[in-house]
Amino acid sequence: MLKIENVTRMFGPKAAVDRASFEITGSAFVGIIGRSGAGKSTLLRMMNRLTDASSGEISFAGRNILALNGAEKRAWQGQCAMIFQQFNLVPRMDVASNVLHGLLNQRSTFATMFNLWSDADITRALEILDRLGIIEQAPKRAEALSGGQQQRVAIARALMQDPKVILADEPIASLDPMNAQVVMDTLRRIHDEDGRMVIANLHTLDTARRYCDRVIGMRDGRVVFDGTPDQLTTGVARDIYGADASFNESATSTSITGPADTAYAETMLA
Ligand SMILES: Nc1ncnc2c1ncn2[C@@H]1O[C@H](COP(=O)(O)OP(=O)(O)OP(=O)(O)O)[C@@H](O)[C@H]1O
Ligand SMILES: [Mg+2]
Repeated sequence: MLKIENVTRMFGPKAAVDRASFEITGSAFVGIIGRSGAGKSTLLRMMNRLTDASSGEISFAGRNILALNGAEKRAWQGQCAMIFQQFNLVPRMDVASNVLHGLLNQRSTFATMFNLWSDADITRALEILDRLGIIEQAPKRAEALSGGQQQRVAIARALMQDPKVILADEPIASLDPMNAQVVMDTLRRIHDEDGRMVIANLHTLDTARRYCDRVIGMRDGRVVFDGTPDQLTTGVARDIYGADASFNESATSTSITGPADTAYAETMLA
């Protein structure tokens, strides 16, 4: 169980995350939604210890995550893999090596520098690429792949760590709708087949409704909604995104536009 208790992160006088509390049991697939600046990334980064919390507690299976240091902290970061909007691959390195870099936390710097991977590691990396349908890309440079393929490589790199939790920060925000679907289907499959907990920051309501078992809505650093996709009505969404957001709902898609915030509107409509 992942337990977030009264977690706050201050940046100067401003709380990016403000006394957030929730628990996730089992291997749920959880979406975090909210407008730009709501604190979604900061919350994920605190779970992974990329950012320190100012106060509050985070525990996983009873362990106090915020107290971990050194090797223990790195071990936790191995169990709690992060996936980013911009993939964060090494562009000029081949795909298989990028996946093997998922073992970075578990290998010496020396072994990593000289790419001293064991046969078993290499076999596993190739098996994971095969599972994600991109085995034929293994020898290519990461930069030669499409965005959707690169994100699947990033997921493969995360799986290399054999993580208990996958944290995905806007994993499809840079992808066209078709690639976005492939990537979300992949994350969902990993959740369903492996029983890994997935927590994803998502920028469209539609994706959250379609893929998540549970949705957490954030506004101004606070958790303002925590429920099932069914409970995520237009009224609730309005509360999360602000009363001045406008909604266009149809059977297949929901888009939201915020006021005087072009970048925000663009990501919502992407
Ligand atoms: N390193 C930082 N230094 C100062 N302020 C920060 C820093 N990181 C985030 N913030 C602020 O904290 C608030 C929450 O930011 P965060 O990136 O978590 O939001 P978000 O919900 O992920 O937004 P987006 O949808 O744009 O990614 C924002 O007001 C942001 O400006
Ligand atoms: Mg963010």
